[in-house]
Amino acid sequence: MLIFAHRGASGAEPENTLRAIKAALDADVDGIEIDIHEVDNKFFVIHDRWLQRTTSGNGQIYHYKYDHLRSLDAGMGETIPTLDEVLTLVAGKCTINIELKGVNSISLLFSYLDHAIKTTALAVEDILLSSFNHRLLYKICQQRTEFAIGALTACCPLEYAKFAEQLNAYSVHIDIDFINQDFVDDAHKRDLKVFVYTVDELDDINAMKALGVDGIFSNFPTIAKSHVAHLIFKSNNQ
Ligand code: G3P
Ligand code: MG
Repeated sequence: MLIFAHRGASGAEPENTLRAIKAALDADVDGIEIDIHEVDNKFFVIHDRWLQRTTSGNGQIYHYKYDHLRSLDAGMGETIPTLDEVLTLVAGKCTINIELKGVNSISLLFSYLDHAIKTTALAVEDILLSSFNHRLLYKICQQRTEFAIGALTACCPLEYAKFAEQLNAYSVHIDIDFINQDFVDDAHKRDLKVFVYTVDELDDINAMKALGVDGIFSNFPTIAKSHVAHLIFKSNNQ
């Protein structure tokens, strides 16, 4: 079962900052999930549209320019990272799952990804683009088949994982509150990986292992990694 650091190692460090991403890399995670918003022709790594929960700023991110956003404190003196900073840091080390929150221009996104692939150790196979915006994912899969797609859902759909198959997705990412064995089996039948968010409690990790999911997003990747290693050790020595 793969471990993705959710917003970096956000349980221990300010979420979606380079600090949280470095901590996730130190934990030797399989992947790192970040959220992005497009502002001023750049992509900022931040979860909310509103600045006040995670930064020293106020108001909607879209009302500001690059210089102002970069002057804000995103926690412990960190700045809001840009996508290219994160790609440079993570390149060649693990999978980067970019969750597209406020993205308008997929061609701008492609240009940042292509540039990072050209100029850093980032491999196209290490990029996983996910979103709750399935229409956006559909456009991506129409234009650039080489980018793996993660179809997000915060519900258990009527036809289980069919929506992800329709998007030609690599994986389906589902809220832990709505997962069940039928969903996992259906996704696997469709050749989709199942990644579950957000899984921090040890009992939840045990339950996800029992369901046979392929990966989990955790705010505490160090704990999640060592617990999963313990489960594997236990099952090998029974
Ligand atoms: O990508 C998984 C998870 O991050 C989706 O929800 O709100 O934490 O971005 P959220
Ligand atoms: Mg997210």
